Amino acid sequence: MDSDGCKPEQQAGLRGSPKIPQRRSTPSWTQRTPAGLPSGMPGIALEIDGAIQHAPQLSRHAWAEFGRRAADIGSYWLGKWGNPALCHRAAAAFGAALSRKNQGNGSARLKAPFSSLSAMSLFRPDLLTKYDAAGPRYTSYPTALQFTDTFDPAHYHRAAADPGAASADLSLYFHIPFCDTVCFYCGCNKIATKNRAHARPYLDRLKRELVLQAACFDTTRPVSQLHWGGGTPTFLSHDEMAELMAATAESFRLLPDARAEYSIEVDPREASAETIGVLRDLGFNRLSFGVQDFDLRVQQAINRVQPLETTQMVMSAARAEGFKSVSVDLIYGLPHQNVESFSRTLDTIITLAPDRLSVFGYAHMPSIFKMQRQMDEATLPSPAVRLAILERVIEKLTDAGYVYIGMDHFALPHDELAVAQRAGTLHRNFQGYSTQADCDLIGLGVSSIGKVGDVYAQNAKDMAGYAAAIDRGELAIARGVQLSTDDRLRRDIITEIMCQFSLRFDAFEAAYGIRFEAAFASELERLKSLEADGLVKVNHDGIDVLPAGRLLVRNVAMIFDRYLGGNLAGNAKPRFSRTI
Ligand SMILES: C[S@@+](CC[C@H](N)C(=O)[O-])C[C@H]1O[C@@H](n2cnc3c(N)ncnc32)[C@H](O)[C@@H]1O
Ligand code: SF4
Repeated sequence: MDSDGCKPEQQAGLRGSPKIPQRRSTPSWTQRTPAGLPSGMPGIALEIDGAIQHAPQLSRHAWAEFGRRAADIGSYWLGKWGNPALCHRAAAAFGAALSRKNQGNGSARLKAPFSSLSAMSLFRPDLLTKYDAAGPRYTSYPTALQFTDTFDPAHYHRAAADPGAASADLSLYFHIPFCDTVCFYCGCNKIATKNRAHARPYLDRLKRELVLQAACFDTTRPVSQLHWGGGTPTFLSHDEMAELMAATAESFRLLPDARAEYSIEVDPREASAETIGVLRDLGFNRLSFGVQDFDLRVQQAINRVQPLETTQMVMSAARAEGFKSVSVDLIYGLPHQNVESFSRTLDTIITLAPDRLSVFGYAHMPSIFKMQRQMDEATLPSPAVRLAILERVIEKLTDAGYVYIGMDHFALPHDELAVAQRAGTLHRNFQGYSTQADCDLIGLGVSSIGKVGDVYAQNAKDMAGYAAAIDRGELAIARGVQLSTDDRLRRDIITEIMCQFSLRFDAFEAAYGIRFEAAFASELERLKSLEADGLVKVNHDGIDVLPAGRLLVRNVAMIFDRYLGGNLAGNAKPRFSRTI
């Protein structure tokens, strides 16, 4: 069992900034593995002296040359993350050079560089209003609504034991449901408690579940992805977190830092700089912070007061510890928000220069999430204001150099999500967008969902049910679905649309032995009205989601969802959030 990925000394190479050589005006590019990067990772280091603080003064030629060299290698690395202007210029230069390079190579996928899409071409208020409807987010297809209680866990065991899957990596998801206080808007599966002692029995059960799950799989398969979500994973103490990671390494084959994508959701109110260091030492190399909004009035209304200094502190700790990707969650559509107030939040977050941003539209479903009733509905922004805020989000983030990935996600061009999208390898799983397609995903903890081969399986959603199953020595699978051939085909179509904004019929015809236009004649017919509105372009070789359709990509995907019908907007009890 290879548990090297968890050893702090393996990560030491990532820490700290490199020496900045003293030069006056000409940047130097180091085309080698820069000091401070793990060996084997190609990179280009942008090393500039004090003039780095005045990065905008560098000549366009100098930036273009940096971008060209970085694009040749496929990555770059900055020694001074603290300077947002530098980050944006470098990211933009890299993205532009990569796009040029890909187009020069005749890449069919990259019709227009994503980074060059203007806010205006993405944001069409008339279409956003027309197509605003409740719909799935397609973190899976079929969606969790199709999971049934009659699902036989034997399907899961068979899929886990399938020798055909032995070459695929594993992905582990741990759900830590506890939160110290509850945010009124929250739609996550969480348990609000101040009693930290609740963590102990839960941790013990997670460790037992790890052993039970490991017994189902070939554990020589490497764990290339690992994610702790919640709730609030940092509700656990430092020792408890270390214990869980050690137990994971005992049951599964964790990977060294350079080959691992290990991420965690962090509530900045529940983490000190020391916590961030502990997480890095445990092997995490990506993290996301919940922020939502910096405006105090909004924070009070949502029961989440989080001073800016708290967020700044954890973000600079994450940089200092060498996390490879730092992401921030914001929400628009919360009480008291308006365009000006959210603009200030955006300006602030841009100065902190996270690699990724998730800007979620607030999903208001008080019939399901009772705590949402604590907020006065009269203080929620109107649909028109929500739309205006979204417009500002797109304007500000694209101006700041962020690329729209899809479905609320933005990333700087150097970030691996943006890189994966350009390469056509972006994927989608229960945590949102992901860079790895072929992993089997093992879900651990209450309510977690796993995806193994053609099976989705979800653990009991209530703690009592989860605990009872684990205490009996069984997996806690309560619901699931075994995909049919039609489900698999539609899952691939929906993934392609959601991740690449484009699909080519011949790839599906070769993989599934179908004639796409015949098999999906009625779907293509229904796409015609979206085409007339400029959301998509359909021709005889494929479908392309046009810029105006990108914010509405799930409406395009919904055309291919066989299960939609009774679950759309207008139902008595909404099961999906609205598209905008
Ligand atoms: C599990 S939380 C993040 C980690 C940690 N608990 C925290 O809050 O910092 C996941 C994210 O889901 C988003 N979220 C939760 N409820 C939502 C809702 N009703 N509508 C939109 N986004 C929501 C928030 O942005 C939140 O940061
Ligand atoms: S947003 Fe995060 S901290 Fe707030 S209740 Fe939800 S899971 Fe807990």
